[in-house]
Amino acid sequence: TVPLIIDTDTAQDDCVALITALLDPVADLRAITMVAGNVGFDRQVRNAYLTLNVTGRLGEIPIHLGCRRPMVREWESAENVHGDGAGGLDMDVSGLAPEAEHAVDALVRLAAESPGELSVVAIGPLTNIAMAVVKDPGFARNVKTLYVMGGSNNGRGNITAAAEFNFYVDPEAAKTVFAAGFDVTVIPWDPLTLRQAVFGQERLDAIAALGTPLSDFFIRVCAATLEFDRSVGIDGTTHPDSLTSAVLFHPELVRRAARYHVDVETGGELTRGYSAMSWGVHGLTANATVVEEIDAEGFYSYLKGLLAVETKPN
Ligand code: BDR
Ligand code: CA
Repeated sequence: TVPLIIDTDTAQDDCVALITALLDPVADLRAITMVAGNVGFDRQVRNAYLTLNVTGRLGEIPIHLGCRRPMVREWESAENVHGDGAGGLDMDVSGLAPEAEHAVDALVRLAAESPGELSVVAIGPLTNIAMAVVKDPGFARNVKTLYVMGGSNNGRGNITAAAEFNFYVDPEAAKTVFAAGFDVTVIPWDPLTLRQAVFGQERLDAIAALGTPLSDFFIRVCAATLEFDRSVGIDGTTHPDSLTSAVLFHPELVRRAARYHVDVETGGELTRGYSAMSWGVHGLTANATVVEEIDAEGFYSYLKGLLAVETKPN
């Protein structure tokens, strides 16, 4: 099994990534840590609880609340893409209490309790992860492996021409993380999400036809992004976050990966959050593995298989 923490700004595909970690028998999800990103912070927490509920695992996994804004900048959301992040679903969480321990403290503590064993899947802005590095210089060493959804491999951005959302929102955090010495694997927006892990209408129809609580939930939470993606010429839903957890659990889904030196632009006027991925000709030492090609059909089959599981939501 893979013991892990998911650090998330829970909306849309973050929910799907949580589903993989909650239902894949390979995964041993120890905690969910929340970071400011996609939609309002409290809304993200409710989206995480909704996901725990639909998987039938409400009350089993601790949720730790983390940084409510980036390290040095104001928070910017992606509500224009995600709406509320859960397709209008909501739940009363008044009887549910997140942990008192801050997400950054939980990350530091859990990694220190079992050095070299815990994986971290970071699928939001990297604020909590960077703050854990600031707090504990041993954090990067204690984490077995860090899987990051973010950046583009010298390709297209999604929030600006140059930048992917997670790195754009907190570029100082992303820069800190790549300088910290993690064993880090990057799942970039372009080309993986934008060109390879898109679910078109046929796949979505096949998922809808499963008729399980999870497939209904999936179709609902993906509806807003589907509409947005279509409006910008992407012919289906995009799955950056669940792809990130999936390749950690099932490395055979990776067809090609390479070592790069990754750094993140914090100063540029047009390029804030741009991920400079240097592939070796620039004299820089590699600090990250970047996934370049995946088994897209295998990834789709994997998710569809999980969404077919009959769960018992409350
Ligand atoms: C990233 O930003 C969010 O919209 C998604 O959840 C993903 O983590 C893609 O740029
Ligand atoms: Ca995310």
